[in-house]
Amino acid sequence: MRIDIVTIFPEFFGVLDVSLVGKARQSGLLDVRVHDLRDYTHDRHRTVDDTPYGGGAGMVMKPEPWGEALDAILAVADQTEPQDPGVSSVVIVPSPAGRPFTQKEARDLATVDHLVFACGRYEGIDQRVMDHAATRPGVEVREISLGDYVLNGGEVAAIAMIEAVGRLVPGMVGNPESLTEESHEDGLLEYPSYTKPSAWRGHEVPAILLGGNHGAIAAWRHDQQVERTRRVRPDLLPDQP
Ligand code: ADE
Repeated sequence: MRIDIVTIFPEFFGVLDVSLVGKARQSGLLDVRVHDLRDYTHDRHRTVDDTPYGGGAGMVMKPEPWGEALDAILAVADQTEPQDPGVSSVVIVPSPAGRPFTQKEARDLATVDHLVFACGRYEGIDQRVMDHAATRPGVEVREISLGDYVLNGGEVAAIAMIEAVGRLVPGMVGNPESLTEESHEDGLLEYPSYTKPSAWRGHEVPAILLGGNHGAIAAWRHDQQVERTRRVRPDLLPDQP
């Protein structure tokens, strides 16, 4: 999978050199490239923002540098063979005004050959950048929110999404079974986990986990998932009649 990131803060993305994503980059499974939006400006001050039409607080990111950056990045993608001839690139614009990011969205994005993260700052990016990108053949634009809170820009949200998507790319996680037994994969939160010692600071590991009865353990874990989901995230459960 190829991932291009456009940002005015390339230094944010140093974290993509470590851990699983870092290893996947070294092995060639993930080809991640970070681009400085200011490299696509032409004035002495490398200006990327301006005041909003219609007035209001804050600044809006100008369309021209974004247009040139996406032209360069998507032109390269045009020359590579897509897995799905319909959509070859998805441009993701992290934004609190986007649709919520979910495990389902991560699974879907993990099947795409080419992701482009367009990280906005200030009051966002001129809407025409997204509207124009969406007219390009083979390009889909998705505005996606990490949650109902406001970050200073899209960079932290992009890093979270890259980690969530990257670990679902086949070959990234050593034991793929561990991917199916975690929170949100079956619509429930994960059950609690324990390791040795069996007693620690007066807290015991639940006896059922020490007994070796795999059927009973599976049933107990499922009950724990349901109980935890009902307590912490009742919104994830189907409506009770
Ligand atoms: N940029 C600013 N806030 C954001 C959020 N909640 N999700 C994604 N991108 C953002």
